Amino acid sequence: MYDFDKIIDRHATANIKYDLRSKFFGKDDVLPMWVADMDFETPDFIRDAVKERAKHPIYGYSFREDSYYKSIINWIYRRHNWDIVAEWIVYSPGIVPALNFSTLAYTIPGDKIIVQPPVYFPFFTAVTDHDRVLLNNKLLLSNGKYYIDFDDFEDKAKEASMFFLSSPHNPVGRVWTKDELTRLGEICVRNNVIIISDEIHNDLILPGFKHIPMASLSEDISDITITCVAPSKTFNIAGLATSSVIISNEILRRKFEKVVNNLHLSMGNLFGAVASQSGYTYGDSWVDLLMQYVSANFKIVEDALNITDGAIKLIPAEATYMAWLDFRGTGCDDEKIKEILINKAGLGLSAGPIFGDGGEGFQRINLAAPSSIVIVAMEKLLHAFNF
Ligand SMILES: Cc1ncc(COP(=O)(O)O)c(C=O)c1O
Repeated sequence: MYDFDKIIDRHATANIKYDLRSKFFGKDDVLPMWVADMDFETPDFIRDAVKERAKHPIYGYSFREDSYYKSIINWIYRRHNWDIVAEWIVYSPGIVPALNFSTLAYTIPGDKIIVQPPVYFPFFTAVTDHDRVLLNNKLLLSNGKYYIDFDDFEDKAKEASMFFLSSPHNPVGRVWTKDELTRLGEICVRNNVIIISDEIHNDLILPGFKHIPMASLSEDISDITITCVAPSKTFNIAGLATSSVIISNEILRRKFEKVVNNLHLSMGNLFGAVASQSGYTYGDSWVDLLMQYVSANFKIVEDALNITDGAIKLIPAEATYMAWLDFRGTGCDDEKIKEILINKAGLGLSAGPIFGDGGEGFQRINLAAPSSIVIVAMEKLLHAFNF
């Protein structure tokens, strides 16, 4: 029904992943598997909806209609069993902006904010760019799986005002369980820590796993949780700058809205709203098929790395289309790994150290690409490391 094998030429479309390779890798000819968007077509029902709207000759000031909110509410109920209402939904141009708005809305300079590295790097700057203080609750890696250090989290929660949660977690690929989320949530409730639950990858769940929205766990937890969701990763429309922040607590919602409104960012993007509504209305089977395809790509990587006998390992993923690869068994330091990947393998990946503490010796590779490309990437990788 959908052709995920199709290779699409993205050159010269002003896209970061391909067109800025020289800037980030010092050369143009690396196979780009870094930026977290997909090399798959945005589904036809979204493109058709955007084209239909584009036919009207005026793209003036716009607002989001009731049907836009309905599509989000229904999707979240259908896909994630969480009942929300339109009043809780606040527009944000993106989730990284939403993290920064949260810092401005709920904390003051000097306040402490918990993050769980290795984690998506804008979590750090959403703290430090505003003169707030990072508290690193480093994830624990045991037998190829990441866990939360709850004792350390509980200690840090005593002095923190806020917590940036990545759920599912980028880059380690965990879908946090109900038990893990409940423990985190309850510690935050006890210690008055506001939870910013970045659930941008909530729809990208691999077969066999189930995402649970943090705020759906209990009223107490919902009361302190700001949930960030978006159609951008789900349907490959990050360029359309349209996301949602769900806040059931009216006081917290007003504070968040004040930041967005004071910056005059609430109007949003006309085409983003059209695309979002279409995706959330028609996208169920597309996402299911997408994640089956991505799951097969993970298998390609796992099989390929088997021959390295543990020198390069795949951390088994539960969600996202990012694979987190452990190169520590190669004996190379980060500089050397990077040098081999760029210059010998010709691969453009995301270097582990940018994800903070615990990222050393790792690399993140984006598997939202046709399988033929993933196979080529694995051949290049194995050859470059002499396997
Ligand atoms: C955890 C996480 N949050 C946010 C983003 C990006 O959000 P946005 O592009 O909406 O600012 C990403 C993109 O990779 C991500 O992985």
